[in-house]
Amino acid sequence: MRIFKCKNYAEVSAKAASIIAAQMITKPNAVLGLATGSTPVGAYKILIEKCNNGEIDFSEITTVNLDEYCGLTPDNDQSYRYFMNTNLFDHVNVRKECTFVPDGLAEDAEAESAAYDARIVALGGIDLQLLGIGGNGHIGFNEPAAAFDMATHTVELKESTRQANARFFNSIDEVPTHAITMGMRSIMQAKKVLLVANGSKKAEIVEKALYGPVTPEVPASILQLHPDLTVVYTENDD
Ligand code: F6R
Repeated sequence: MRIFKCKNYAEVSAKAASIIAAQMITKPNAVLGLATGSTPVGAYKILIEKCNNGEIDFSEITTVNLDEYCGLTPDNDQSYRYFMNTNLFDHVNVRKECTFVPDGLAEDAEAESAAYDARIVALGGIDLQLLGIGGNGHIGFNEPAAAFDMATHTVELKESTRQANARFFNSIDEVPTHAITMGMRSIMQAKKVLLVANGSKKAEIVEKALYGPVTPEVPASILQLHPDLTVVYTENDD
């Protein structure tokens, strides 16, 4: 485990962006596992700048996202597809057809989940998986549970997760109750994992995840078992 404790969010973003950029430079056709949420936004901005000034190139990159809300259309401004388009994909030279986000509208969610995992295997697995962490320790939308869920699956969101994400919606009632998330297998089989966290609110859960017992009650704790984990975080709120 490599840990970079940063002095602020700007430093987290710069460090995370440089790790992702290094992956893209060393393997131009890399498969990047991507996350939404507020933490990666700063890193995405820097990646856009790096792409626009020719330092990195997305033309051969494939991306697979961690999760998507159930029931939101891709053009809904709260969907994770919309988030990825507006925060990264629309501003870089990635081929949109090589960007994958689970389909939260799939009629057969089980078939969609199985197809998502099969796609990741067919792509040769994920080279670098970027993760944020929820206040309850979730990664992707793998919520605290009695057992680690290995495959991509539909999950009922915890009330604490809906509350936390309500900040992006007009009201809590609009926050979807379910999501489809990559499971632990694809995350743990990623060749490298990069966990980012920002601010005092995440300090306690980061500590628990990295140094506490490995337990599905703290889903991110499974990352202690990953052979190539990098953590970039700050406990400061500036
Ligand atoms: C997002 C995701 C979530 C977030 C987590 C932290 O695709 O999978 O696990 O990474 O909820 O979100 P922020 O960064 O908003 O604190």
